This record gives sequence, structure tokens and C-alpha cells, in this order.
Amino acid sequence: MTASPRVWLVTGSSTGIGRALVTELLARGESVAATARDPRTLADLRPSGAGTLWTARLDVTDPERIRQVVDAAARALGRLDVVVSNAGYALVGAAEEASGEQVDRQIRTNLTGPIHLARAVLPYLRAQGGGRIVQVSSMAGQRGSPGTAVYCATKWGVEGFFESLAAEVKGFGIGVTIVEPGTVSTGFFGRSKELTTASPGYAGTPAAILRRRAQDGRLPCRGDLAKMAAAVVDVATGPTAPLRLALGSDAYASIRRGLTARLADLEDQRELAFSTDLNAGDGSTPSTPHRRPEGNDDAHHRPGARQPR
Ligand SMILES: NC(=O)c1ccc[n+]([C@@H]2O[C@H](COP(=O)([O-])OP(=O)(O)OC[C@H]3O[C@@H](n4cnc5c(N)ncnc54)[C@H](OP(=O)(O)O)[C@@H]3O)[C@@H](O)[C@H]2O)c1
Repeated sequence: MTASPRVWLVTGSSTGIGRALVTELLARGESVAATARDPRTLADLRPSGAGTLWTARLDVTDPERIRQVVDAAARALGRLDVVVSNAGYALVGAAEEASGEQVDRQIRTNLTGPIHLARAVLPYLRAQGGGRIVQVSSMAGQRGSPGTAVYCATKWGVEGFFESLAAEVKGFGIGVTIVEPGTVSTGFFGRSKELTTASPGYAGTPAAILRRRAQDGRLPCRGDLAKMAAAVVDVATGPTAPLRLALGSDAYASIRRGLTARLADLEDQRELAFSTDLNAGDGSTPSTPHRRPEGNDDAHHRPGARQPR
């Protein structure tokens, strides 16, 4: 990581987390390529110290425009050190209620856009010998919930893509961090959210209840926007890039609950999984795995876990 001022590129800088990040970066004297669908929303932002602010119009659903903006930002600011892929929104309501267009746009914005952005910046980061990619996911990227199936699909998608990408580019000195915020008050539950069209068949279901609460603005937020932005900047400029960064006690609790349940489900299916191997039951290998001596497997210690016979 180069010394300050580093060059950052941030998508979705008009409001919320993106804007808080750009504000924090400029206050720290960093140089920022701030992008927004409407760059006029960035007109009041000011650089400080040796930093520079460069702005551009970018709708992340347009792959060709992503490449143009990345190339132009690198040309204007000389390099790219940290790319923050933040733009996104949530479609709320039952999956069956969503229109095809709503599903496609949610995926193009939250998943396809970040993939194209990463592919556009990688040549620059590799040529420089390193850099960072920060992808904003969500606590919903680790745990699905009714009423957000399509949103969760996009966030689980970025989790899979960026986890894999991290391993592909580590050898080039490029660090990847997937940020998983919990609830924080931004435009997310306000002007940015999109609702499905309610259908009577889903009345009273968990998806419909969430949809109604989102519509009425009754979704409490736990996180502090400025603290989250500062944490992202601290981590992105730290010596090593953690693969994931959960922000907020609600994110921690939700992700922990999701991971614990998934691990318990996996352990419950251990014998069945092994029974489907080609050589299962022929005596050449145990039908259940031996416990590894270094003890990376905690099933034996987990209360209520099914013990292998
Ligand atoms: N707030 C939360 O509780 C929360 C929790 C977990 C994860 N997140 C994630 O945090 C990220 C930022 O959301 P936020 O909370 O800061 O909400 P926000 O205040 O609504 O900001 C969303 C930003 O994304 C931009 N955007 C939406 N569609 C875009 C597109 N097609 N192209 C370019 N920009 C687009 C918006 O631009 P416009 O101004 O043009 O609409 C806006 O700048 C999202 O990825 C979201 O999934 C938020």
C-alpha cells in the first residue's frame, strides 16, 4: 500500500455509506475518484490536504461505462490504490411477487456491476504490483431471510465471487475485503429501497410483514455511519486485507447465528455425505472421516452434535 495520499475509487457516492466513505477519505487527505449516477450530488464535497477529488457519472449496470470511468480515473489521478464497490440497493418483498425486470435490475446492480468493476480495475492493480478491492456486501450475504431473497442472492453472489477472486489475485499483492454491514441509517431503507407488488397470497407471511415494515419505515438501525466508514478506511489501509469485515453488533450476531446453523446442518449430514463416495462401504475408507489430530473439527465438542459411530 502506497503512502497517503492514496487514490481511491468509490461507487455509489451520492448518499449513505459511499458518501460517508468519501467524506472520511477527503478529511484524511486522500485522493478520491467518487462516482455517482448523478455527479451533481457530489458538488459540495471538498478535498483536503494533498488530496484530490475527481468525480464521474457512473451507473454500475453499464459495463462499458464502468471501463470508461475506471480508465479515466486512473488517467486523471495517476493510479488506483483502493477500489470500493459500494453501489447497491434492496428489493424487498416475496420473490414470487417481484417482476422479472426487478429481479434482473437487482442482480445487474448488486452483483454483475461489482464483477465488471473488479475485472476493469484488476489490470491497473496488477500492473502496479498490488492494491485493494473492497466490496460492500451485507450481513444478508451470510444469512438468508424471507422478504429479501433476491437481495440476498446478489450479496451471496458477491461473497462467492470475491472470496474466489481473493485467492486468484493474492499472489499479485492485491487484497480483497468483503464488508458486511448490519443495519445503518442511510437511503437504503428510505428512498433507495424497492418494493415488490404485494399479492394477497402472501398476506401475513414473514416476507409480507418485512415488506410492510420497510414501506412504513419501521426498520430500526443499529449502526453508526461515520464509525463504519472510518472502520472501512482503517481496515483498507491496514497491513493485511481480511477477507471479511462484519460491521455492527447486529451483523455479528446474525452472521454468527447463520454460520452456526449451517455448520450444525453439515455435521448432521456427515454420514450421508460420506456414504455417497464411489468407494463408500467397500471397507477401503472409513464411512465417516477420522478426526484430524490438529482439531480443526469441533463437532465432537459441540453439545448435541451427532457423534460418528
Ligand atoms: N444501510 C444498510 O443498512 C445496509 C446494510 C447492509 C449493506 N448495505 C449495503 O451498503 C451499500 C450502500 O448502501 P447504503 O446503505 O449507503 O444506501 P443508500 O444511501 O441508498 O446508497 C446507495 C447508493 O448506491 C447507489 N446506486 C444504486 N443503484 C445504482 C446504480 N445502478 N449505479 C450506481 N449507483 C447506484 C445510489 O445512487 P443514487 O443516489 O443514484 O440512487 C446510492 O449512492 C449497498 O451495497 C447496500 O447493499 C447497506
